[in-house]
Amino acid sequence: MIQRVHKITCIGAGYVGGPTMAVIADNCPDIRITVVDLNTKRIDDWNSNDLSKLPIYEPGLDEIIINCRGKNLFFSTEVEKHISEADLIFLCVNTPVKTQGIGAGEASDLKWIESSARQVAFHARGETIVVEKSTIPVKTAVTIKTILDSSIENLDSKKQNKKFHVLSNPEFLAEGTAVEDLQNPERVLIGGEDEGASEALTLIYKNWIPDNKIIRTNLWSSELSKLTANAFLAQRISSINSISALCEVTGANVNEVKKAIGMDSRIGSKFLNAGPGFGGSCFKKDILNLVYLCGYYGLIEVASYWRKVVEINEWQQKRITKIILEKLFGTLTNKKISILGFSFKSDTNDTRESPAISICKDLLSEGANLHIYDPKVNLQQIEFELNSHKSDSGTWCYSSSIYESIEDSHCVVIITEWQEFKSINWENVSKKMLKPSWVFDTRGIISINDLKSTCLNIWTIGKGDDLWK
Ligand code: NAD
Ligand code: UGA
Repeated sequence: MIQRVHKITCIGAGYVGGPTMAVIADNCPDIRITVVDLNTKRIDDWNSNDLSKLPIYEPGLDEIIINCRGKNLFFSTEVEKHISEADLIFLCVNTPVKTQGIGAGEASDLKWIESSARQVAFHARGETIVVEKSTIPVKTAVTIKTILDSSIENLDSKKQNKKFHVLSNPEFLAEGTAVEDLQNPERVLIGGEDEGASEALTLIYKNWIPDNKIIRTNLWSSELSKLTANAFLAQRISSINSISALCEVTGANVNEVKKAIGMDSRIGSKFLNAGPGFGGSCFKKDILNLVYLCGYYGLIEVASYWRKVVEINEWQQKRITKIILEKLFGTLTNKKISILGFSFKSDTNDTRESPAISICKDLLSEGANLHIYDPKVNLQQIEFELNSHKSDSGTWCYSSSIYESIEDSHCVVIITEWQEFKSINWENVSKKMLKPSWVFDTRGIISINDLKSTCLNIWTIGKGDDLWK
């Protein structure tokens, strides 16, 4: 029976594996942690002496990497070796939506979970705790356990006294605040039946997290709680976004509505910012996964309820392009448009499912010339996201500064709420724009005072035009 964990291996050095293991290493100097990945470039970047090359940008992460890397935190491509040495293994691999076959477009693609479970089954030695950290459909633990246990059948494994315990320990960090979320989580959820294994994992977290924040449930409640938490958060965003459209036509102000409803403690003030729709790698995929599960169990009404949250999100993104087109006299052909922000939210370089992707593609289809600036997303990443778009009309290029992007443009579209966009000197930049000049603020970060003494026209999410006069 494992009582205390000495060696951890994390499979998957991505947005969850990297920061999560860094924070565990920082708080548990006696535990040796190795993060493994098949992606050699990613591992090289994690090992780079130039901290600006870390594959993931998260405020505060570089300091922890300096403190721990090479002491009790390691990054390696030697997956098999580190599986065999570990007494606890986190599965932190990607679980995107299936793109083909049964359940395509909704169900999670579990091929990375299955292949890492098979690697663990084959290479683990002795007693090993296997922890699902990836977000997965309910009952995936059974699949993992079946794969692991089937490896015990052979004689070699019996000689090595192989034994596995499977736990679910979903991650609730948000990108951009990952370090803060991991250092000071609102809760840690551990699902599983095996008392000893749960206790061993609890002991790790107890190094820095108060006991009352560590909650235990059965495996299935733990898996379903993760999907449900994301679905509820996303649902709040779709709800406020739907109301933002109503505010624009009625003369209400979505920020005032947000304040008024958020002060009701039964509703609460968080996750009520209207915007260009939620992005990120998880909300959409996790809701679609929930939709698939509900459909699988014949709960058609429940499935269609949650599907609407995703539909409203897509509608919100399309709505923004339509408004831009309408304000610019119904044509964007050859018009220079400054795009400020490409990441799916501020303080991250992650562009997965960013609203910027669909908005840019729609603007390109209208023939616009986009000049895209983002403080942390590089040209290659934007190329990766937009290259699948075949448009024989519009063009795009990368700008290295806000001002380069804005100069000679017809309009500016703010898509990400980066801090530096909040302090733009609009008086100066408006002089460099073509007239009539427009600013489309999809995040509601500009105030009326910022625009005094400019001749800019502004459209902002959730505010009727009249509110700017
Ligand atoms: P990611 O794509 O950034 O990282 C996953 C990594 O796993 C990749 O680098 C990939 O190369 C590696 N990998 C896949 N199969 C492997 C194998 N067999 N052996 C070694 N390496 C392998 O994904 P992510 O954003 O870190 O998300 C991981 C999981 O965590 C997902 O299930 C996601 O839903 C969940 N999650 C993500 C977040 C987030 O903010 N990104 C938050 C909470 C939960
Ligand atoms: C989200 C959850 O917040 C995490 O708890 C969860 O662990 C994670 O998904 C996951 O499972 O991947 P994340 O996607 O990183 O985290 O970031 P959020 O802060 O939740 O933002 C998601 C999207 O919603 C962003 O595009 C953001 O701009 C948007 N958003 C958020 C709004 O439009 N309005 C809001 O009020 C809040």
